[in-house]
Amino acid sequence: MHPLLENFSPEQFQQDLVGWYRDQKRDLPWRRSADPYHIWISEIMLQQTKVDTVIPYYYRFLEAFPTIEALAQAEEDQVMKQWEGLGYYSRARNLHQAVKEVAEEYGGIVPSGKKEFRSLKGVGPYTAGAVLSIAFDKPEPAVDGNVMRVFSRLLCLYEDIGKQSTKSTFEAVLGEILPLTSPSDFNQAVMELGALICTPTSPGCLLCPVQEHCKARAAGVQEELPVKEKKKAPRKQEMAAAIIWNGRGEILIHQRPDKGLLARLWEFPNTAVEKEAERAEEMGAYLEAEASVTPEIERPVQRVEQTFSHLIWNVHVYEGKAERTGLPEGWKWVPLDDIANYALPVAHQKIYKTLVERMELK
Ligand code: ADE
Repeated sequence: MHPLLENFSPEQFQQDLVGWYRDQKRDLPWRRSADPYHIWISEIMLQQTKVDTVIPYYYRFLEAFPTIEALAQAEEDQVMKQWEGLGYYSRARNLHQAVKEVAEEYGGIVPSGKKEFRSLKGVGPYTAGAVLSIAFDKPEPAVDGNVMRVFSRLLCLYEDIGKQSTKSTFEAVLGEILPLTSPSDFNQAVMELGALICTPTSPGCLLCPVQEHCKARAAGVQEELPVKEKKKAPRKQEMAAAIIWNGRGEILIHQRPDKGLLARLWEFPNTAVEKEAERAEEMGAYLEAEASVTPEIERPVQRVEQTFSHLIWNVHVYEGKAERTGLPEGWKWVPLDDIANYALPVAHQKIYKTLVERMELK
């Protein structure tokens, strides 16, 4: 037995936790399905993303791509369009690639073997554990930040949950207390406890079905846990962006590079600028150098922000015009309405929405 499980009664814990879950669980759309493809989609979307945010995306995504075959046959741009606004876009690209592999290598059936499923693009230990347990009732641990918070408290463990060694500890512990009878309910019950009761601040210990098992509660230290190294504050980056018209009702857009932040999403041309810069001039120089477009920047029209985990864009938006020249790869002239078909970062969706509203008023 793992030393952290001293004085811990796994059978009683399982009963108390799973009994509560069966009684109190939320009616979530992916809990109405037993299809491993649906569960897989939900687990990818739920990484770093709240349930309430995920629900509408989950419905729309499955309406657009109801089967493995449908998703495997889709174009990447269509997939990205469905993911637009959900963030962490590499999740969508990896999922698409993994689903293509399932279509080609496994006849469209999600593999239930750990080795096979884990080898798919974008499937890490958490996703594998979650999907194999929930869809196939395999006794696999599924350890994410929420699960680590719950078990830091239950076991009163003061180890930094940002460290891989701490995650490994929890995987080992969970491996020992996972029930063989209903690992699906057990793993979901831990997630549910983390979402509803054992929340990051002010955990609801009085309502907790496993309060009697909790070592942090016994010591009155539940609010000190988990230990998590503070992240650096996100860096603020000043940006200039431009809506460039070409006289034929078309606007210039650009596809971001294959690698890095928001890879391959489309955007209005933009560039990082210094805080006190002559932004319109810098924007002109950028377009000249990158797109061989010589714009006349006419006026500032908007300012938008977009926050990432490590970065904040503060985007100053300009409007101007240019001649309709030929463009290098990755650049396009697109009619206003057609821009809606491209997946854009959230800041650029806001720019587009405001622009459309402004054109409708004209
Ligand atoms: N978070 C991660 N996976 C989840 C699930 N299956 N249900 C609710 N919240 C979750």
